[in-house]
Amino acid sequence: MSGTAATSTVAEAARALNAGGLVLMPTETVYGLAADAANPRAVAAVYEAKGRPSFNPLIAHVADLAMARGIARFDARAEALAARFWPGPLTLVLPIADEVAVCDLARAGLDTVAVRAPGHPLAHALIEALGRPVVAPSANRSGRPSPTTFADAVEETGAAAAAALDGGPCAVGLESTVVALLDQPRLLRPGAVTRAEIEAVVGPLDEADDDARRSPGRLARHYAPNAPVRLEAETPNPGEAWLAFGPGGHGPWNLSPSGDLAEAAANLFAFLRAADRTAPAGIAVAPIPHEGLGEAINDRLKRAAGFVG
Ligand code: TXA
Ligand code: MG
Repeated sequence: MSGTAATSTVAEAARALNAGGLVLMPTETVYGLAADAANPRAVAAVYEAKGRPSFNPLIAHVADLAMARGIARFDARAEALAARFWPGPLTLVLPIADEVAVCDLARAGLDTVAVRAPGHPLAHALIEALGRPVVAPSANRSGRPSPTTFADAVEETGAAAAAALDGGPCAVGLESTVVALLDQPRLLRPGAVTRAEIEAVVGPLDEADDDARRSPGRLARHYAPNAPVRLEAETPNPGEAWLAFGPGGHGPWNLSPSGDLAEAAANLFAFLRAADRTAPAGIAVAPIPHEGLGEAINDRLKRAAGFVG
């Protein structure tokens, strides 16, 4: 079914992975383009399908903590975070324990591995059916907004997939939070689990000083639609599409009429894509509060606009 929007069963998708093929996999955060983590050829095909300019390490998705302990070295902090947030939208960067199960290419040659147990039942079933970890970057082509619906995932990288699982719209809509536990706990990417929620378990988080190198997904221009994005806008200019937020925000793309950040996160990438499809002169976005999930939303918006703050 390569290149079509036809959906597969979990068993078909697991067979495709086992044979070295790629699979569109729903998760609770965004859709991923999945490959057998132990298969360097399959992993190379993921990089090629995404058009990543350089090899950027991938997240190894596991069915459960036992599978995670087989590939990464867990200390007490990692155990505590996994116990609190897995399955769910938190990725831990830990020392690698099995360099074959997650191949060199998937880790971009690092001696660390990013690992998470996704909460989506289809992702869980797929990994269980394969019986080993699956790497899956967001299923967008490099630099574009992550797909949060099946149709968007198919449009981005469906042509490269041997199988595709339709899990409906992603409940969270923003990528997982990435925390490195190599020395001091470090926030490499704000995401669906908030800074405050993580700090409640492991204490204060250091910032990722050299994050462009250690977490190359955090490039300045990323998650970007074709139209230029203008942030903290009071109102749209003529020709601009308008992403509103909160009560009274007009137009078809109010991220959350009630001002709810979880709803805004779930709508963000789908609305950026929908607005972009109208080929506007630009996309103006209302101010989004910075607290809680707002940190991750504003991080993605800054990158969509082409600069890091
Ligand atoms: O929600 C998510 O995390 C989604 C779904 C599909 O699980 N996946 C995702 O993958 O966002 P990707 O490849 O788009 O982003 C992975 C991020 C990148 O910023 C990458 O640089 C970072 O994790 N990363 C992966 N391995 C790393 C490592 N060993 N050290 C530091 N950063 C790493
Ligand atoms: Mg991505």
